[in-house]
Amino acid sequence: MAIPREKFKTYNNVFDNFTNRLLFKLEAAGYFERIVSTIAIGKEANVFCAIKKDGTYVAVKIYRLEVCDFNKMYYYLSSDPRYLNIKRRKREIIFTWAQREYKNLLKFRAIGIRVPTPIYITNNVLLLEFIGDNGFASRQVRNDLTNMHEFFNKLVDYLKLLNNNNLVHGDLSEFNILNNNGDPVVIDCSQSTSLKDSFYNELWERDIKNISRFFSKNGIDVDIEKLKQLIEYKN
Ligand SMILES: Nc1ncnc2c1ncn2[C@@H]1O[C@H](COP(=O)(O)OP(=O)(O)OP(=O)(O)O)[C@@H](O)[C@H]1O
Ligand SMILES: [Mg+2]
Repeated sequence: MAIPREKFKTYNNVFDNFTNRLLFKLEAAGYFERIVSTIAIGKEANVFCAIKKDGTYVAVKIYRLEVCDFNKMYYYLSSDPRYLNIKRRKREIIFTWAQREYKNLLKFRAIGIRVPTPIYITNNVLLLEFIGDNGFASRQVRNDLTNMHEFFNKLVDYLKLLNNNNLVHGDLSEFNILNNNGDPVVIDCSQSTSLKDSFYNELWERDIKNISRFFSKNGIDVDIEKLKQLIEYKN
């Protein structure tokens, strides 16, 4: 495939060659027209907003190949029954971590939790439904505290769905929940796993602690025990 020179220039300084090629392929396949802005530079991935031919947007999450904590990824992957045989090879681990996010997002969606719909995964590049309005991404709930009571109740429903399905998010906090006009959208699901995973209880306790800490600081009468009761008894 011939790559137009000006396009090559646009991405050349931002992404490594491997990722560049994947982006060109995705463009050529019509998944998007071009990347228009940077949404976030995260710990393990960078997230961009891309525009499609029809003027709508997609989020492009690119897992970093170089600067990332792949030892942490390996540690958590190796206790997930889906990935017991994973080899300790850097790229394989990063690609599997990205795959795991894709699969987890589909699972969350299937049980009724609002997440960005995953569109496509190839190696370290994940395409997601863009959460926001007119190209402006929704903010993490820590930066958008509107409708906290309603928001919290919806989130408790999601925690209940996770609990009923023997799932845990594993990295849940005010950083990984977007406030989309008062509706929680759960993101960053690569660490999610099931009850069969030996880390399940540890991750569940941590998620509950993070959520009760954040919402108790922001006007909700909740603590760890109350939150657990709400999840178990709320119908
Ligand atoms: N689908 C999306 N639509 C709009 N914005 C998004 C989307 N996905 C992620 N973001 C934005 O990008 C940020 C980083 O995404 P995410 O948490 O998935 O990546 P990460 O690299 O694992 O982040 P971190 O290491 O900071 O937790 C989010 O906090 C959010 O602001
Ligand atoms: Mg995150």
